[in-house]
Amino acid sequence: MARSDRIVILTGAGVSAESGLGTFRDEGGLWAKFDPMKLATPEAFADDPETVLGFYNARRANLSDAKANAAHHALAELEQNWMMDGRSDFLLVTQNIDDLHEQAGSASLLHMHGELLRTRCSLCDHLFYDREDMAIDRLCPACTKAGGLRPHVVWFGEMPLGLDQIYAALSRCDLFVAIGTSGTVYPAAGFVSEARRNGAHTVELTLEPGEISDFFSERHYGPATEVVPEWVQGLG
Ligand code: APR
Repeated sequence: MARSDRIVILTGAGVSAESGLGTFRDEGGLWAKFDPMKLATPEAFADDPETVLGFYNARRANLSDAKANAAHHALAELEQNWMMDGRSDFLLVTQNIDDLHEQAGSASLLHMHGELLRTRCSLCDHLFYDREDMAIDRLCPACTKAGGLRPHVVWFGEMPLGLDQIYAALSRCDLFVAIGTSGTVYPAAGFVSEARRNGAHTVELTLEPGEISDFFSERHYGPATEVVPEWVQGLG
């Protein structure tokens, strides 16, 4: 296969599973324990902000002792080598709201579903890095009003972030790699078709075949901490 020059990588919860952070749709996953319609929608936040904020505060606390794993580190190393080899485009799109890619050193990174460690004021749109608990009576540090603070996370029914940049990268890329995602949530699940349409080589690295596996020209199954470093090593 010719040497790739422009890569788009998409990661999902599976890349963080071995760091102890749950996935959503596996056995015992988050959405098996909690109803996303009651916790991850703007309506749920409007109806019962305390419960929604409590859910995200617990996930934020859970993140504090999670560490990047070998898959995150392999992707950060790939990015450094990619740029050093003079290849032109590298974009890591993650559906994850954890900070493990950042911990590993990834820089060209786009959180399309937002970030658990950022809080946004829905009254003034102030966005800030925050490890504290969110509460409905907590004052926004910018507009000093209460009642607007929410996690900077894309809820069901809201627009994912960075789609213009993502589709522009997909239209140019010659290599698309999906890692640890079930391919059940759009628009992310449609990225592989977009990349194929533009002639990219497509690779799936995940635990087991999922809903979009047939769209990939190359597939490697197993735990991300094994298949991702192996695949990165084998890249020309
Ligand atoms: N290594 C690699 N892949 C794994 C591992 C592992 N150790 N463990 C699980 N997986 C795979 C599962 O096989 C599954 O395909 O990771 C995938 C996890 O799928 P989901 O739980 O559906 O997570 P994801 O695809 O990221 O969900 C997408 O849905 O609820 C929304 O916003 C949420 O970003 C999330 C989106």
